[in-house]
Amino acid sequence: MTEVVRVDRDRPHPPDIARAADCLRRGGLVAFPTETVYGLGVHALDRDAVRRLFAAKGRPADDPLIVHVAEFADVARLAESVPDAAAVLAARFWPGPLTLVLPRGASVPLEVTAGLETVAIRIPAHPVARALLSAATIPIAAPSANLFSRPSPTCATHVLEDLNGRIDMVIDAGSTDVGVESTVLDLTVHPPEVLRPGAITLEVLQSVLPIIRVASRDASAPLASPGLLPRHYAPRAPMTLYQGEPAAARNALAAAAREAITSRRRVGVLATAGDMRILEGLAVVIAELGSDDDAERMATRLYAALRELDAAQVDVILAREGARDDGLWRALRDRLRRAAAQVVVVS
Ligand code: TXA
Ligand code: MG
Repeated sequence: MTEVVRVDRDRPHPPDIARAADCLRRGGLVAFPTETVYGLGVHALDRDAVRRLFAAKGRPADDPLIVHVAEFADVARLAESVPDAAAVLAARFWPGPLTLVLPRGASVPLEVTAGLETVAIRIPAHPVARALLSAATIPIAAPSANLFSRPSPTCATHVLEDLNGRIDMVIDAGSTDVGVESTVLDLTVHPPEVLRPGAITLEVLQSVLPIIRVASRDASAPLASPGLLPRHYAPRAPMTLYQGEPAAARNALAAAAREAITSRRRVGVLATAGDMRILEGLAVVIAELGSDDDAERMATRLYAALRELDAAQVDVILAREGARDDGLWRALRDRLRRAAAQVVVVS
């Protein structure tokens, strides 16, 4: 069964970390907190262990993993070459929620990169992740610690919901800080492209390297990053996203809720504080996302809120898309649209 090891977020007990590190070195599967979401760690250079990880998650083999390392010097051992841009970005954003896609070094198994000649690398900032990486002294490949296509886990309970009995250990240090996954930036193309928006925003990246742009979403092109799958991070119930001016979108959402209730369906709503009023008196299950203008708080709540609605066994989920698409709002919009499998109603 899966062992749960509770640790202090800022001062994890070294013997606990040593045991988890040992388990990883021997090819075990250990879930651990990062500042973004919980990751499911495995020895990145152990092919068999990596295969077990894909099996435990039910993850398709064509979806590459992020390799987590302790310090910048480790990057040169995993990447075939390290462009100047990587050093500049690392100096500014590592440790932190930025993943860099670089040319794959020969030591990285193709199982990790899903056959790609590129490898995604990051240095996480969470004290427990850092302690684990320095104790393990190996690179740790870690996807989010959820079953494939389910919302990413932001606490150990979420990990156990999906993976109890399928992995060796979970290190429980409470909730993560950011709540959405790292920004993935491809440095193997010119100009560099953001493949997945995250906590390190486009605007902040551009303040360091102005040429960075967002990858265009040409549906006919091969998937650059399987995180770009249209349906991902999804709850079990089908979800619809209401887009547009807040008052109009709220009216459309409330009308859809009434109609679903009339046809005896259990309705879940991902609601901001500003949505509450229009939901008054409606028999809906509400999962709160916090204040309308607080993107940071919304990011920490999003995946937990989706899981709450799943646990309440709703038949449909309704949510409103925020008006903004700058800063962290870009990542939120991206995750909401994927959760809704791109089902967006414009009002
Ligand atoms: O915040 C995070 O990034 C978390 C924590 C645990 O570090 N990890 C995470 O991993 O979200 P995962 O496996 O759920 O998402 C990895 C993303 C996917 O979108 C994948 O396609 C992309 O990174 N990726 C990995 N290697 C890549 C590569 N060589 N080229 C392009 N995209 C890559
Ligand atoms: Mg994931």
